[in-house]
Amino acid sequence: MRRYSGRRRGVYISPLYVVLALVLAAAAIFLFFRQPEEEDAPNEPQGVQTNQPVQSEEPRPAKAATASGIPCTLTELGEEAVHTGELILVNNQILFRFPREQDLVSIYQEKSGSYYVRDMEVLLSPVAMGPLNALLDDFLEQGGSKSVNVVAGHRTEEFQQHLFDQSAERSGLDHAKKYVAQPGGSEHHTGLVVDLSILHGDGTSGDYDGTGEYAWINENCHRYGWVVRYETGKEELTGIWDEPWHFRYVGVPHATAMAEGDLCLEEYIDELRRYPFEGEHLTVDCADGRYEIWYCQGTEAYLPDSGDYQVSGNNVDGFVVTYKVS
Ligand code: DAL
Ligand code: ZN
Repeated sequence: MRRYSGRRRGVYISPLYVVLALVLAAAAIFLFFRQPEEEDAPNEPQGVQTNQPVQSEEPRPAKAATASGIPCTLTELGEEAVHTGELILVNNQILFRFPREQDLVSIYQEKSGSYYVRDMEVLLSPVAMGPLNALLDDFLEQGGSKSVNVVAGHRTEEFQQHLFDQSAERSGLDHAKKYVAQPGGSEHHTGLVVDLSILHGDGTSGDYDGTGEYAWINENCHRYGWVVRYETGKEELTGIWDEPWHFRYVGVPHATAMAEGDLCLEEYIDELRRYPFEGEHLTVDCADGRYEIWYCQGTEAYLPDSGDYQVSGNNVDGFVVTYKVS
């Protein structure tokens, strides 16, 4: 049997190894407890910046007053409501959620005598009907001619696909992508949009470009709740090139704020996140009075206990409440 003999020697550990071991242990503890990286978070939709307020872990109180003293109640509105309302953002990244039923009226049956409409099949949301009549009545009254022709309103997903394919075939795919939204990404699905054209007295028609006598419409439409949705310089944000004929209804306070700030809807929806219920609110002065506007993230919103207010989803992540102050 083999034997080892001799004095057992003490084990010597260099201080360098001790330091190294401590560093490795600290690194292991850090890696074990670290938060998940950002790649675990869902992707943000393109075209929308991410200046969303950090949600507090604290439950929000059921009753609260705004800084200006408006008593409100936290109200569950549901996921579907986030995708419903006058202020929903719809583009090629943020698609329209088609409801089972949509409330639409025939412009032909509801219109005033101040303008034309292509046919009885041009449909619009009833909330936008009065504001369309008011805009085009006042256009005529201030000296415009009766020549505006509403040639498009609500569109189904199938019809949008047909228009996209037709445009790509006639003018090429690049042109189609600039001027025709993808099916599901068209604001026309909302029923809150009209496209204008010109119908001359001799029966001929022309493109509506918002210049000459028609510049009045494009410059004043915000006072009636409409915005020119696609303007030069905003292509990177909207994904669509200049369309002076495409008008979107968002309501007077929002159209006014967008016009004053030169903001497209992508920018405005993002901007509104800077005005959460708990913080300072956006105030907008319109011809009929002052409005206070705030944003609530999630599926519940602080709604005023009384008074004149309107709430809309933003089609992304929450609600915008618009309260008439005076
Ligand atoms: N022309 C607009 C962008 C649409 O197709 O909805
Ligand atoms: Zn259009």
